[in-house]
Amino acid sequence: ADLQATARAHTNIALIKYWGKKDKNLILPMNGSISLTLDKFYTDTTVEYSPSLKKDHFFLNGQNKNDQKLAKFMDIVRQKTGFNSYASINSINHVPTAAGLASSASAYAALSLAATTAANKHYTKTELSRLARRGSGSATRSIFGGFVEWIEGQDDESSYAKPLRVNTDWDIRMIAIVVDSKPKKVSSRSGMQTVVATSPFYKGWVSTANKDLNDIKEALSKNDFQSFGQIAENNSLKMHALNLSATPHFNYFEPESLIAMRVVENLREKKVNCYYTMDAGPNVKVICKNNDLNVILDELCHYFPSDHLLVAAPGPGVKLLDN
Ligand code: DP6
Repeated sequence: ADLQATARAHTNIALIKYWGKKDKNLILPMNGSISLTLDKFYTDTTVEYSPSLKKDHFFLNGQNKNDQKLAKFMDIVRQKTGFNSYASINSINHVPTAAGLASSASAYAALSLAATTAANKHYTKTELSRLARRGSGSATRSIFGGFVEWIEGQDDESSYAKPLRVNTDWDIRMIAIVVDSKPKKVSSRSGMQTVVATSPFYKGWVSTANKDLNDIKEALSKNDFQSFGQIAENNSLKMHALNLSATPHFNYFEPESLIAMRVVENLREKKVNCYYTMDAGPNVKVICKNNDLNVILDELCHYFPSDHLLVAAPGPGVKLLDN
């Protein structure tokens, strides 16, 4: 074995959100989630083990990083593979400049495949999904392409993602509206922890998230884009309502995020089918069909510079690249 491998994984955007853990160490979520893997944003990661190294070395876009989460994750990889060398890890994030969409999902999905392959282990995608989960919850889903469901599970074995087979006749697109943010943001990890511990609405979130998940799967199977989009939009706003109801409260909205949401809602009044979702940052992602893309972009252009509107289509699952 040459002790080296390179993998590419794409980021994903949740339509039914993961927002809370029932086990922090294993990263078991409070509810199942559903996402779409995107073609536009991805991470390429090379792992090279060397017996002479005394610790892991990590470079992101060529810059040396000291990342505790990553070091802990590599210990899990060593424990699972039984391959006990430290590694040099080189990650390149392919995200349009300053888009602020770089994500731990693509990072840990790519690292899972590269780190196990370099150790000469050949895991199934289900096994890779479980492993990626240990790095970051959302990475569980980035192992697969297209629509993906993360099954909540009760333990390490039963919590993993699987692709959702859908035969919708719409060609889905996501427009990421890049919104500049000044203040420091609350990380997903600490934000969801605060919410689980303090939001009086958290019970309601868990019970309705599972209903949202079933309803959106039904909308997908019925080819019903309007229900699909509405469920995703409601689920996202519910997540943000939890943040507003936490102690201390926090939120990810910038004034421009609210403008983006309003533009989408106004387009709907004009019978254009579009919906939005937001994650742990101020960017708004618009969900639409390819057919409606130009009408929506024309409207958004009145409010946002066109180079802040990034269009993505469904993307593939994790794969190895030739070194
Ligand atoms: C809002 O996967 O980043 O994007 O598991 O603590 O690493 P950790 O959190 P992370 O949380 C993602 C939260 C979200 C919703 C989602 O992707 O489901």
